[in-house]
Amino acid sequence: MKIMVRPREIDDSDWITEVLLENWASNIIVTRGISYEADLLPGFVAEVEGVRVGLLTYTISNDELEIVTLNAFDEGKGVGTALLGELEKLAKMKNCSRIWLITTNDNVDALRFYQKRGYEIKSVHRYAIEESRKIKPQLPFVGKYGIPIRDEIEMEKSL
Ligand SMILES: CC(C)(COP(=O)(O)OP(=O)(O)OC[C@H]1O[C@@H](n2cnc3c(N)ncnc32)[C@H](O)[C@@H]1OP(=O)(O)O)[C@@H](O)C(=O)NCCC(=O)NCCS
Repeated sequence: MKIMVRPREIDDSDWITEVLLENWASNIIVTRGISYEADLLPGFVAEVEGVRVGLLTYTISNDELEIVTLNAFDEGKGVGTALLGELEKLAKMKNCSRIWLITTNDNVDALRFYQKRGYEIKSVHRYAIEESRKIKPQLPFVGKYGIPIRDEIEMEKSL
């Protein structure tokens, strides 16, 4: 399976909005109390034989790159790794000092995925999701594996 990764293009816009609605309940993503219209952010699209199979969106502020969303639709086949690889190349090209992201305490798959790829837990912002819910009421109370969603876990990789 050959996975191609490319920057998002104008033609991807409708698809990106759909992906965000389906996977994150909204185009609005809240991290550390800041809300992003993730459909307007730069990003990378992964494709297999011309079919879109993954999406990563990010934002760069000062010299720090934040991964805002990452989704692979057919998990365990290397799509997430391929998207992360392209992003890391970009971050180095832009001389970023670190890549960071927020995940939630229920997302043990993401904790595994990122840690195995060199990302470390920087901070645990306990009960931060209560604040995020004020901005994004669609955030569910129960997440993966039936785990209550409470904390924001900040992960980072220094470059
Ligand atoms: C987290 C997430 C992005 C990972 O993406 P993914 O495409 O499943 O990740 P990969 O396939 O690259 O890697 C996952 C595992 O599959 C294995 N794998 C990679 N290529 C493979 C292949 N061709 N065949 C079988 N397994 C493979 C990898 O070795 C990896 O195992 P490891 O973690 O033990 O090293 C994905 O699970 C996802 O979309 N989750 C839901 C959304 C989410 O939580 N996003 C992150 C929060 S921002």
